[in-house]
Amino acid sequence: MQIPYGKQEITEADIQAVEKVLRSDFLTQGPAIAAFEKAFSEYVGAKYAVAVSNGTAALHLSVLALGLQPGQKVITTPITFVASANCVCYAGGEIELADIDPETYCIDLEAVREKLQNASPGEYAGIIPVDFSGYPVNTEALRQLADEHNLWILEDACHAPGGNFMDSKENTIRCGDGTYVDATVFSFHPVKHIAAGEGGMITTNSEEIYQKLVQLRTHGITKDANILQENHGGWYYEMHDLGYNYRLTDLQAALANSQLTLTNERLEKRLAIAQRYDEAFEHLEIRKQKTPEGKHAFHLYVVEVEDRKALYNYLRENGIYAQVHYIPVHYMPYHAVVAQKGTLPNAERYYEHCLSLPMYPTLTTEEQAYVIQKVTDFIG
Ligand SMILES: Cc1ncc(COP(=O)(O)O)c(C=O)c1O
Repeated sequence: MQIPYGKQEITEADIQAVEKVLRSDFLTQGPAIAAFEKAFSEYVGAKYAVAVSNGTAALHLSVLALGLQPGQKVITTPITFVASANCVCYAGGEIELADIDPETYCIDLEAVREKLQNASPGEYAGIIPVDFSGYPVNTEALRQLADEHNLWILEDACHAPGGNFMDSKENTIRCGDGTYVDATVFSFHPVKHIAAGEGGMITTNSEEIYQKLVQLRTHGITKDANILQENHGGWYYEMHDLGYNYRLTDLQAALANSQLTLTNERLEKRLAIAQRYDEAFEHLEIRKQKTPEGKHAFHLYVVEVEDRKALYNYLRENGIYAQVHYIPVHYMPYHAVVAQKGTLPNAERYYEHCLSLPMYPTLTTEEQAYVIQKVTDFIG
């Protein structure tokens, strides 16, 4: 038996959706993009959605559209995939890492507050919270703090489509609905909830940010007659900004849109798997993430154990390919200048003990029982 930590599921309908594009006139810049953007914006409850080539491109374009200037600082979490931090560097900004909350494994509001306490005006531009493993960050509380310092919030929800939390007014706030954040990014890498091979999305309720994103996605080029400085005819376009080619293809958009139709169903399967793990590990020496007030999207199911390396090796010997998410950002040689080892104790302690167990909708109850058995054998 070989069990990975994550795996995509491709249906016959997905294949047909891609085939339909292959037989159409557009492989890119065609109608499948707009159709996916519309469906996705409705799914998360945001006004606008902009599809791009991957989650990293979504982060990069977002910080540019939000106006990050070279030299400005942005706060993010050390427990994330490096892309959440790298996007700041792409734009010439500087990363500041605020420690995680040991209960939620997401950025700690108090650690963010501490960073901002003695900041001079304009020193910090924004905050990038990450809905780590699918845990919906309380962006209402973060918004309050961001507003005190005139900062934008870019939510990295690459792990959390379908996640939500309850705010203080008892409203359900969906990850990506833009209620408390300026923009939200998602990834459609195959281990994520929606598999497009590669793909990403930015959602926002700001028309200004939306327009900037659309332009930056295609080289900074516009054909909008209201914006053009001159107009030589039907062929004419102007480049107004230094943009990129971060477009998604129609093939990927069609696949992702087809996957989107099953997202809720699959999320329920993830929740059921998490519940079975929770019950099985209740009396074992295993630490787990706090349960959120709302819906966890369970991209990952993480446990903390005393001897993580030994458990990782033991599971591998038994065909179970658990993973470690993540090596802290400041442990990366490239980012070592951002923070010294020893300065982010919660993140570092978490990294010593964490392990992501298999979590994907097609994980069968037999396979999960096998994983539970092996973990129990080891811990017991
Ligand atoms: C939290 C987080 N942010 C950003 C990314 C980048 O997404 P992509 O791989 O689509 O570029 C990932 C992907 O692994 C991620 O997990």
